[in-house]
Amino acid sequence: MDDRDMGSDLEKVLLSQEQIEERLTELAAEIDADYAGREILLVGVLRGAVMVMADLSRKLHSRVQMDWMAISSYGSGTKSSGVVRILKDLDTDLTGRDVLIVEDIIDSGLTLSWLVGNLRSRGPASVEIATLLRKPDAAKVPVDVRYVGFDIPPEFVVGYGLDYAEQYRHLPFVGTLAPHVYGG
Ligand code: XMP
Ligand code: MG
Repeated sequence: MDDRDMGSDLEKVLLSQEQIEERLTELAAEIDADYAGREILLVGVLRGAVMVMADLSRKLHSRVQMDWMAISSYGSGTKSSGVVRILKDLDTDLTGRDVLIVEDIIDSGLTLSWLVGNLRSRGPASVEIATLLRKPDAAKVPVDVRYVGFDIPPEFVVGYGLDYAEQYRHLPFVGTLAPHVYGG
């Protein structure tokens, strides 16, 4: 672990800081190759994607702009329903833009499939998705995710932007929570 073991709140480290850094370097190279000569509009989804956006964007050599959206997904507990509300919209006009959505994690994929539809309706040249993490359920939704960092088991994870009750976002690695934290 590291010296922030959060009083044993964490069960294990799933992805170390080094593993994340290495994978983002690979993804950035793929993205640069795919977008050669084009300017990318990175759209980060607040708040979980902050770390991925910061680290991935700094590895890109392409011309890049960044904008942010905050959306809230209605659902029960930790599952989303696909009913989404925009809390903060983009400031950028998407007409003719090459949009790359930057996400922390795709679970059911419902939030993202709504987001892709919403952004496509604004007249961009293209909309693609980059996510650090993807859980197995995402396969059930017909959303084409172009760049995936890691496929992970269906466990609740925190760190590197991801929270449990707004905690643990600052951890530089991705880990699983000890069952006592969420009452398991
Ligand atoms: P869907 O199911 O619509 O939901 O793909 C994606 C959103 O659900 C949250 N989520 C998580 N958050 N650890 C988290 O901290 C997890 O393991 C996890 N799984 C899903 C997250 O907000 C994501 O954007
Ligand atoms: Mg969350």
